[in-house]
Amino acid sequence: MANYQWYPGHMTKAKRMMQENIKLIDLVIELVDARVPLSSRNPDIDELGRNKSRIILLNKSDLADSAKNKLWMEYFSQKGFHVLEVNSKTGAGVRSIQGVVQKACKEKFERDRKRGILNRPVRAMVVGIPNVGKSTFINSLAGKACTKTGNRPGVTKGKQWIRLNKSLELLDTPGILWPKFDDQTVGHRLAMIGSMNDEVVHLDELACELVGFLCVEYPGMLEKRYDIEIPEGQKPYEIIKSVCISKKCFLKGEELDIMKISAMIVDDFRAGRIGKITLEMP
Ligand code: G4P
Repeated sequence: MANYQWYPGHMTKAKRMMQENIKLIDLVIELVDARVPLSSRNPDIDELGRNKSRIILLNKSDLADSAKNKLWMEYFSQKGFHVLEVNSKTGAGVRSIQGVVQKACKEKFERDRKRGILNRPVRAMVVGIPNVGKSTFINSLAGKACTKTGNRPGVTKGKQWIRLNKSLELLDTPGILWPKFDDQTVGHRLAMIGSMNDEVVHLDELACELVGFLCVEYPGMLEKRYDIEIPEGQKPYEIIKSVCISKKCFLKGEELDIMKISAMIVDDFRAGRIGKITLEMP
């Protein structure tokens, strides 16, 4: 899905859809971006998903710092979530969800058993902000082997369920959570991972922020990626100029093309070419 820009109308609609669909399910599978696990969440899901079993997936874990993935797993576990680290693009970790579902839905199974209900499959919905990887995850989990159920002929509004196995069904349309960027830091982090429309973002400022962060948190990475030297205490803007020179990125004459190089640096980060980087800590 492309970048999004959100208006109040979008949010109201997304919330209404979520409220409707959440009634149909037992389990919420919430995707967050492992590079910004808090900023890529909308905490309203805690209210919406009250009384549901909950799983949090740290998606795009391949792009994030693996030591920090572990810390985030602990963080969410301590909050009472069942957590899993996945890479939906390659499918790494995706299969392990079956076991986690069993654990997360243990109470539901108990309740069903007491009421004499046997073998009723768990119904789940995948949710998350745009671009976090919901469709990729559903495709990876469902693959081609699944069968779709529930859309009987003549019932146009019926929901499509993907039957993963005899104990788990997935709503085939994911729930879209609206990003919550009322806090400026959150907004910047969402911009960094490409979850906001780049047209409303100043890429040069974003690149400066990123470079400043990397110098402190991941020393050596920029030097290695761009084959530059960074003297102690050098300001981000000067570093960007060095990258510009190293990449021979000029406008007419000798003038440096800061915008172009800024876009390149941000894009390199988003694609994981600078390294495995986590932007926020528990
Ligand atoms: P959405 O439904 O939540 O909006 O997200 P979607 O699945 O469309 O995924 C958004 C982008 O994130 C896609 O990239 C997808 O390939 C990528 N992606 C999803 N999961 C992972 C993951 O675990 N690791 C990595 N590295 N990337 C992931 P795209 O650029 O839009 O498409 P493409 O170039 O990959 O085809």
